[in-house]
Amino acid sequence: MSDGFSLSDALPTGNNPTPSAPPPQGWPSWGNQPPAPGAFPVYPGPPGTYPGAPGAYPGGPAGQGPFPGAPGVFPGGPAGQGSFPGAPGVFPGAPAGPGPYPAPGQPPSGSGFGPPPGQGGPAPPMKVPFELPLQAGLVPRLLITITGTINPKPNRFSLDFKKGNDIAFHFNPRFNEDNRKVIVCNSMFHNNWGKEERTAPRFPFEAGKPFKLQILCEVDHFKVAVNDAHLLQYNFREKQLKEITKLCIAGDVSLTSVLPTMI
Ligand code: GAL
Repeated sequence: MSDGFSLSDALPTGNNPTPSAPPPQGWPSWGNQPPAPGAFPVYPGPPGTYPGAPGAYPGGPAGQGPFPGAPGVFPGGPAGQGSFPGAPGVFPGAPAGPGPYPAPGQPPSGSGFGPPPGQGGPAPPMKVPFELPLQAGLVPRLLITITGTINPKPNRFSLDFKKGNDIAFHFNPRFNEDNRKVIVCNSMFHNNWGKEERTAPRFPFEAGKPFKLQILCEVDHFKVAVNDAHLLQYNFREKQLKEITKLCIAGDVSLTSVLPTMI
């Protein structure tokens, strides 16, 4: 029903390279990620909660999650998220019913709750550039799952986690930089770009192809996975997580869904 997490994603797997310190449930456990921290003590809430999270878009269903007051995802949305006891959920504790979504200028489907896969016919495309407000800022274990398709003749696209005008994390796949594909990560403070990190071991995006991109906020870094395989991590340069209150997605992609959850 959804291309989100399957149950197997949430279970420890045999090929986990660090059995004594597994990554958080819900994160791809294969690939080249370094050992996860031994514990995730920072976020006090249960899985599925995101403090100050926006509610569902106007007209959206309420209460699909396991916790009281949780809004649903979207009609016919990924039932696995928020409806399986103990599984990662979607914004429990947030006000049910109409919330601040959609963001100004966004259609309902652009509210961070993409169209239901395979149900109810095609939803209108989400606008790019797309902006996802993160009312409570970032918090460790916040996972943002983005699905979409790379445009046919892409040059670049980017994800920007923003603190005001500053960019705490710029994730920027470039499809043709001097005939090479490269992923550039950086931060921008007071309009100045810092030192670029160009160490991604591969370039997993392809022109015209669908993708699933996941950004997991950890205690001191972001993890990025593409199509269920860990790709890279980026150490925080901006440490005031609470102040990072926007995710902007721009460039040569079309978006299907953008879904923040707690894992
Ligand atoms: C610049 C580019 C920006 C951003 C930055 C990252 O050259 O204009 O959009 O990608 O690199 O370092």
